[in-house]
Amino acid sequence: MKILAIETSCDETSASVVLAGKKSGVKKLSNVVSSQILIHRKTQGVVPEVAARAHISKISAVVQKALKDAKTSLESIDYLAVTNGPGLISSLLVGCEYTKGLALALNKRVIPTNHMLGHLYSAFVSDPKIKLPSINLIVSGGHTYLILLKKKNKFEVLGSTVDDAAGEAFDKIAKMLGLAYPGGPEISKWAANAKKKKGFKDYAFPRPMINAKNFDFSFAGLKTAVLYKIRDEKLNLKNPQTKANLAYSFQEAAVDVLVKKTIKAAEKYKTKSITLSGGVAANKLLRKKLASASRKTHNKFYVPDFSLCTDNALMIANAAAIKVQGGFKPVKYTKLKVNPQLELR
Ligand code: KG4
Ligand code: ZN
Repeated sequence: MKILAIETSCDETSASVVLAGKKSGVKKLSNVVSSQILIHRKTQGVVPEVAARAHISKISAVVQKALKDAKTSLESIDYLAVTNGPGLISSLLVGCEYTKGLALALNKRVIPTNHMLGHLYSAFVSDPKIKLPSINLIVSGGHTYLILLKKKNKFEVLGSTVDDAAGEAFDKIAKMLGLAYPGGPEISKWAANAKKKKGFKDYAFPRPMINAKNFDFSFAGLKTAVLYKIRDEKLNLKNPQTKANLAYSFQEAAVDVLVKKTIKAAEKYKTKSITLSGGVAANKLLRKKLASASRKTHNKFYVPDFSLCTDNALMIANAAAIKVQGGFKPVKYTKLKVNPQLELR
């Protein structure tokens, strides 16, 4: 089956075509991503109305390019897949209404796909034979999930964040330090340079919920700890070394919590693999530390290519294919409903 997937849940307009087997396997034919980063940099964050307008202006061209790259036509597509949540409602509506139009005009069925399911299965795009059960840490701008994947299409959410998502914490701290949007890559860039200079200092920020009995996360307290440190010690953010030290100390604390809790879950459920996905999976320190901790617990570690960590339609096409391979029946376009708070279950 050939699937055309569309992703517009936040600030990337993306379309992808894949060829999938009836029972397993997904082959990428194309994946086009048009990023709005430069637009949102001006406001240091995503303004939903602006994001939706940018999706509207790009979506047709992105879909056309995905079809062209895949050397295929709309008529030869079997199913349309689209992200129907979670995300920004106005952004989600653009992708979903566009998909409805295509489905109506072409008389095709639709696979509504949870954005987080896309992230969950994204490591399978390049490694379809990941040994299960696995523990999956999904860290994105809007969500933080620890998931036990028992087999494909059968998973349990072990924990999530009780306040800010991991990526959100990176973005908010970057904003506090006067760094550009999105904050995650900026924090890691500044943190990487901290140790190289003479004025290096680790502020040893708290590791929230690191020893809690459950698998939930909390990042709001860590954000406040950074804020209070700057305020109480009257830190001069114009000093590049101070900025680098703060970025370093925050990143160490956040990564520490993410790694410790993931490993604890892997040990408890005696898993064979650990996967890392979502935008924050692009973080080099997190990749390195989780890879090394996984090895120590005899779990094979998987992380998607950098391009598949942040939002893209290939992960949506892949998740949609896995859904159908697991028995999901694509629906009529009238059944496609947008839900900005769609839960992963
Ligand atoms: O998955 P994603 O593209 O969008 C959502 O579904 O939210 O994740 C975006 C998040 C942003 O918060 C961004 O700052 C973060 O991923 N991110 C990073 C890095 N690259 C992107 N966080 C830490 N280190 C990075 N290198
Ligand atoms: Zn995402």
